[in-house]
Amino acid sequence: MQLYPAVDPIPLPAPIWLFKLLHIVTLSLHFVAVEMLLGGLLIAVLLSLLRGSQLSIVTARALARRLTVVMTYVINLAVPPLLFAQVLYGRALYTSSVLIGLYWISIIGLLMLTYWLLYRFTARLEAGKSAWWVGLSAWILAGFIARLLSTNMTLMLRPEVWRQMYSGSAMGAYLPPYDQTLTPRWLLMMAGGLFIGGLWMVYLAGRSTFTAEEKRFVAGLGGKVAAVFGIVYLAAGLWAASVQPEAVKAGFAGQSAHPLLYKYFGLAGYGWLALVAVAVLVGAYAGFGKVAASWLGWIAVPVAVLTEIMFTVYRDGVRDLTLFSKGYDVWDRVVVTNWSVVGLFLVLFVAGLGVIGWLVSVVARARKVMEGAA
Ligand code: HEM
Repeated sequence: MQLYPAVDPIPLPAPIWLFKLLHIVTLSLHFVAVEMLLGGLLIAVLLSLLRGSQLSIVTARALARRLTVVMTYVINLAVPPLLFAQVLYGRALYTSSVLIGLYWISIIGLLMLTYWLLYRFTARLEAGKSAWWVGLSAWILAGFIARLLSTNMTLMLRPEVWRQMYSGSAMGAYLPPYDQTLTPRWLLMMAGGLFIGGLWMVYLAGRSTFTAEEKRFVAGLGGKVAAVFGIVYLAAGLWAASVQPEAVKAGFAGQSAHPLLYKYFGLAGYGWLALVAVAVLVGAYAGFGKVAASWLGWIAVPVAVLTEIMFTVYRDGVRDLTLFSKGYDVWDRVVVTNWSVVGLFLVLFVAGLGVIGWLVSVVARARKVMEGAA
């Protein structure tokens, strides 16, 4: 029996490999921003709750000031992968989105509330008021949004439960039945938050807007968080991989009937492991040695981005192999490339990157205000 809706007769306007490439690149960047938000926010909340010293307050404020900007990247870098995912996996993703429709649509409201709370958190910190409970509320909401996204991204891989869910309610008001991959997958993203958040602090410690004492504090704390949660992240990754269906494990072992060599997607998993291990060492060096140096940032940032790229490639393999085992081959589509549109898209894409580069350079040239200044 065909488990998925029939394919749209309109052909794809660009090669599948191009959609996939753009999807993986933009989704990796979404994940970097999401992890900075989830991790940076929790660290800022804990620092503002404990208020151990003036250094904790300065660090919490420095993180919070940047989080509202990070949120813009979370959202803007989420739209492209959403569009590419709908093109490539629409038959699966639209169905699962409709089945949990009320939760799915609620993300918009939850997101606006989270954003507002982030601004309130920063404003209260700047004013020297108690702020941790506002930040914690934002973090809980962001974690819930992450849970809903994981729920949908796993439900799209389970056509066998769709009929039962739809019969239960066509309102989109019920969540899917138990799935052993969901919680490990979500916890992997949550653990990644503190890992990437720690690396972000190692990078921040090299900024000239901190005093020497603040730099040592930021590097020491961030490095330790990255080292400890790097190990938690590794453990969560191994857990999430171990609960995947047999078809996925066989595919990564090179035993899938799919003509594409998905074992290379599986190799990205080893790349991820190696990069997290390197990051743990970088974190331990910065954290236990309290070393704040801009060259450490130059290692921490590419390692963090590459880690998320490897993760995204592996995750993409998990999805394609799971879908393939249920009769959905993402590569099996009619393509009639519209090169003029593809060309225009690529020109605008590069121009957009140029504008972002210019914006970053304006920020870099702006007058520096010390983080500790009131
Ligand atoms: C606080 C805000 C957000 C958080 C914490 C967040 C978190 C996440 C997480 C954890 C995942 C991975 C889910 C999984 O596979 O298990 C994810 C994937 C995704 N997110 Fe976000 N997200 C946020 C905002 C958004 C927004 C606003 C959009 C859409 C405009 C979006 C679009 C997506 C898409 C499309 C994917 C999956 C793409 C794919 O698998 O192809 N996210 N997000």
